[in-house]
Amino acid sequence: MTILVTGGAGFIGSNLVRHLIRTRPEDRIVNLDLLTYAGNLANLADVESATNYRFVQGDICDRELLRSLFHSERIDGVIHLAAESHVDRSILGPGEFVRTNVEGTFALLEAARDAWTTDGIQGRFHHVSTDEVYGSLGSEGYFTEETSYRPNSPYSASKAASDHLARAWHHTYGMDVVITNCSNNYGPWQFPEKLIPVMICKARDDEPLPVYGDGGNVRDWLHVQDHCEAIELVFREGKPGRTYNIGGNNEWKNIDIVTLLCDQMDEALGVGVNGSRRRLITFVKDRPGHDRRYAIDAQRIHDELGWSPRHTFESGLRETIRWYLANAEWLAACMDGSYREYYKKNYDEKTG
Ligand code: NAD
Ligand code: TYD
Repeated sequence: MTILVTGGAGFIGSNLVRHLIRTRPEDRIVNLDLLTYAGNLANLADVESATNYRFVQGDICDRELLRSLFHSERIDGVIHLAAESHVDRSILGPGEFVRTNVEGTFALLEAARDAWTTDGIQGRFHHVSTDEVYGSLGSEGYFTEETSYRPNSPYSASKAASDHLARAWHHTYGMDVVITNCSNNYGPWQFPEKLIPVMICKARDDEPLPVYGDGGNVRDWLHVQDHCEAIELVFREGKPGRTYNIGGNNEWKNIDIVTLLCDQMDEALGVGVNGSRRRLITFVKDRPGHDRRYAIDAQRIHDELGWSPRHTFESGLRETIRWYLANAEWLAACMDGSYREYYKKNYDEKTG
C-alpha cells in the first residue's frame, strides 16, 4: 500500500510514521505536513532516509496539491492526523482551527473520493480524532462510541465537525472510513505547550508549574506508542464506517500528575538546596470553559480487535521524563524556534 499520513511531523504523527516505517516495510509512507509551529522534521531525523518514506511539505487545504499527490503516488490509504491541536490556542484564535480541522478534512475527504473513484481504488480513510468531542463528564461514567457529541472548546468543536464529515462520507458515498477517538497522549516528541512537556521543562528549570484552576480536572492518559499501535490495528482491521474509542483506563487529576512528575524529576535530577520540586506548583487562573473530566471506555477496540495498552503510567512518565532530559537540544530548539531551520538545512535539497 501507499499510505498518506497527514500531520506526520507533529507529536503523534511522527511517532506513527516511525512506527509504520518499521512495522510495514512493504508499504510506502508519504508524510504530508505543512510544518506549522507544531511540525518539526527533527522528530523524524532517525528515519528520514528510509527507502519506504517520503516527506511532502504542503497544506491539507490545498486541493491541487492533494489531487496531484493522490494520483502520482497512487495513495490507497489515508491516516489523517493533521490538525491544530491545542485547546488554549483554539481559545485565543479559533479561525485556524476551523480552517485546518474542518476545511482541511473536507478537502482531504474530497481528494480521496475523487482520486479513488477516478482510479478505481478501494482506499481506506482513517480519521484520527479526540475524546474531547464528547464534552465533559461529571465524576461518574465513561465516553462510549454511542455517547452524544457535546464539544465545548473551539478545538473540540472543530474536531467534532471533522468527525461528522468523515462519518457522512462513509454513509453517503460509501467511502471506507474508520474513525478513532483517543484520550490525552504523552511521550517523546510532544511540543512543549501541552501539560506534561510544559511541566517537565519548567520543573527542570526550577520555574513555577502553572496548574489551571483547582487542579481537579481529570484526563485519561495514554502513551503515544500505545496510541500508534491502536491506530495501525484499526487501520488494518477496523470495520468500515466504525468508530473506535482509544484510552488508557488511566484517569489522573492534573494536580496528582504534576505532583508525581515533581517526585520523578527529583528522583532523576536530585533534590537541590531549595527542596522538592513540589514547591514549584502554582495554581493559576482557570482555562475558560475548562472541561472537568474525560474518561474513555475502550471495550470495543479491546473486544473486537484485541487491543490494550502496554505501558503503565508511572513507568511511561518516568521514561518520558528521561527522554526529555536526554534530548535537551531538541527541547531548546523547540523553545527558541530554531527547530524551524531543520527543514531548510537538512531536508529541502534531498526531497526536492
Ligand atoms: P500536533 O499539533 O503535535 O501536530 C499536528 C501536525 O499537523 C503538525 O505537524 C502540523 O505541522 C500539521 N498541520 C497543521 N496544519 C496543517 C495543514 N493545514 N496541513 C498539513 N499539516 C498541518 O498534534 P498531535 O498532538 O500530534 O495530534 C495529532 C492528531 O491527533 C490531531 O488530529 C489531534 O486532534 C489528534 N489527537 C491528539 C491527542 C493528543 O493528546 N495530542 C489525543 C487524541 C487525538
Ligand atoms: P493539555 O495538555 O493542554 O490537553 P487538553 O486540554 O487537550 O486535555 O492539558 C491537559 C490538562 O492540563 C487540562 O486539564 C489543562 C491542564 N493544564 C494545566 O493545568 N496547566 C498547563 O500549563 C497546561 C498546558 C494544561
